[in-house]
Amino acid sequence: MSQEKEKETMELKWNLMDRETASQVRGIALFKSTCDYWNKIWDFQAKPDDVLISSYPKAGTTWLQEIVDMIHNDGDVEKTRRAPINIRMPFIERINSRYVGLDQANAMPSPRFLKTHLPVQLLPPSFWKENCKIIYVARNIKDNMVSYFHFQRMHKGFPDPGSWEEYFETFLEGKGLWGSWYDHVKRWWEAKDTYPILYLFYEDIKKHPRREIEKVMEFLGKNLDEKVLDKIVYYTSFNVMKNNPMSNYTFEPLMNHSVSPFMRKGVIGDWKTHFTVAQNERCNEDYREKMADTMLSFSMEY
Ligand code: A3P
Repeated sequence: MSQEKEKETMELKWNLMDRETASQVRGIALFKSTCDYWNKIWDFQAKPDDVLISSYPKAGTTWLQEIVDMIHNDGDVEKTRRAPINIRMPFIERINSRYVGLDQANAMPSPRFLKTHLPVQLLPPSFWKENCKIIYVARNIKDNMVSYFHFQRMHKGFPDPGSWEEYFETFLEGKGLWGSWYDHVKRWWEAKDTYPILYLFYEDIKKHPRREIEKVMEFLGKNLDEKVLDKIVYYTSFNVMKNNPMSNYTFEPLMNHSVSPFMRKGVIGDWKTHFTVAQNERCNEDYREKMADTMLSFSMEY
């Protein structure tokens, strides 16, 4: 069957099915398919030279994955275009009829680069035991929320997000998939004091891509020359990644890019086009309360 035909058939099959439902592991909402497979995920065996990319969904995970792959491959674009991003870097807790992240990871030769959205308390313990390098990327709550809303609209596997007003409340209450944004960013922030975690911010990468890419390079123990770094900055820029079929998720039949593209806007401050004045006040108040116990701070505008 041609690839195009296969994609159409898959799409049809999934259209006939309901969106995936959510269930819970230790109070955190996850795909039911992930929960059903939980024991296997929890028992996943990390290796000491694994590198894990971790984030709350829609914080810039794919961007960081592409940066890491470019660095690992010394800026060789052909090598980074060898396969779709979810194959190059398995998403360990994701399971559906076509993709089992764990199996992808287990079949992969080392050094492995892996992806997760799991909160600290649900990360398979072997990652801590093996002291694996972890790169975490966080994004300000308002842009993160807007991006997640549009993603749930376009991704047929996710539960329907409902209206923006409904979604806004669900998000603040931490009832969405992978749990509360607050708990996620705060607990990973705390974990970095104990484990080898490079904690990055979407906003910093956007404002100073070269500086942040250099941080990743140093963390990975690489030393690339200026020209290679320039190349990586260019090939991981929003417009180039938007047109790269191996990183823009046009390969994923569950995503409907005509509803909202995966590479949607890629900016800081898009929340201003979504939040009402009342929602902004409500979010600021909630934020003050729930972030009062941390030094972690975000920039919400460019
Ligand atoms: P928007 O929806 O705000 O555009 P994730 O990979 O965690 O799912 O995050 C996706 C978000 O990161 C999307 O945000 C996407 O556009 C943005 N993104 C991906 N690559 C980017 C890049 N090179 N530069 C800026 N933003 C990027």
